[in-house]
Amino acid sequence: MTTKKGLKLVDRDEAGIDTAFRADVLDGLSQEQKAIPARWLYDDAGSQLFEDITQLPEYYPTRAETEILQERGNEFAELIGRGRAVVEFGSGSSVKTPLLLSSIDPSAYVPLDISGDFLRAAAADLAAKFPGLPVHPVEADFMREVELPAEVSGVRKLGFFPGSTIGNMVARTAVDLLRSMRETLGVGAQLLIGMDLIKDEDVLIAAYDDAAGVTAEFNYNLIRRINRELDGDIPLEVLSHEARWNDDYARVEMHLVAGEAAEFSVDGRRFSMQAGDTLHTENSHKFNRRTSNMLLLAGGWEPRARWLDGKGRFSLILAEAKPPRSAP
Ligand code: AVI
Repeated sequence: MTTKKGLKLVDRDEAGIDTAFRADVLDGLSQEQKAIPARWLYDDAGSQLFEDITQLPEYYPTRAETEILQERGNEFAELIGRGRAVVEFGSGSSVKTPLLLSSIDPSAYVPLDISGDFLRAAAADLAAKFPGLPVHPVEADFMREVELPAEVSGVRKLGFFPGSTIGNMVARTAVDLLRSMRETLGVGAQLLIGMDLIKDEDVLIAAYDDAAGVTAEFNYNLIRRINRELDGDIPLEVLSHEARWNDDYARVEMHLVAGEAAEFSVDGRRFSMQAGDTLHTENSHKFNRRTSNMLLLAGGWEPRARWLDGKGRFSLILAEAKPPRSAP
């Protein structure tokens, strides 16, 4: 896939396989603690399964964040003001963005997404809901600094990064992303970011290991994808989904645990697992006031306001781009 500027977003080999996917899987399966980056959970089937997860009774983050966006519109309007260009990182949810846009009356909406199809659908949807609002979709990998369209240059920006997707990154990656968002958004920018909160382990584990088994399917789908796209024969029947709380790192981890020893091949290479070995597939970090502030500050953002849902499960934080040097 090539952008208008000739940048390659996805590199594919002759068989049409994403070369980064192959490299990450082979590298991850070769480690002592097998691990595959969570971004590969999201092929078409995985993205649909994630949408299903957001509707589950146990998965509170989407409902909690939506509640904040529905109920605190006046406060957003007051602190953010009118006329900003809203830049959404990973133009996802069709529900949350209109709630924000209708409360702050922006001058433009710029959705950024690496998937052109997803991006165009989200942009068309928003344009239909807000007929007077200029919408400028940008196909880009938002993990790097992005050049925004000329139409919004000179307009102050509000970055929007809902869903606690920042929690799917280890701290170093999260800080890199926050810094590059700051570069992308420029002087005087604000950022409205969702960050899920540390809470009772039982509640957290249920959210990532639901009774209907949808999150398990989301996890198993990665194995189906590997077997299909990389000519693998990983025996899915030997693996079971597990959600674990890692208290040292304040995160829920998704693993696939081998119930018995297994040998398999992927892309012509042989791998093995012993009974009890796991393949680590996702981290979902949880925060408190101090750790979320610390992360934002490390990324060059000064927290200004913080809202929680009525049950105190989820936070939305408004932060401002910190000047490059600030005393002491
Ligand atoms: C996308 N992300 C914020 C979700 C989360 O809660 O970490 C992904 C997810 N994984 C399992 N359930 C949901």
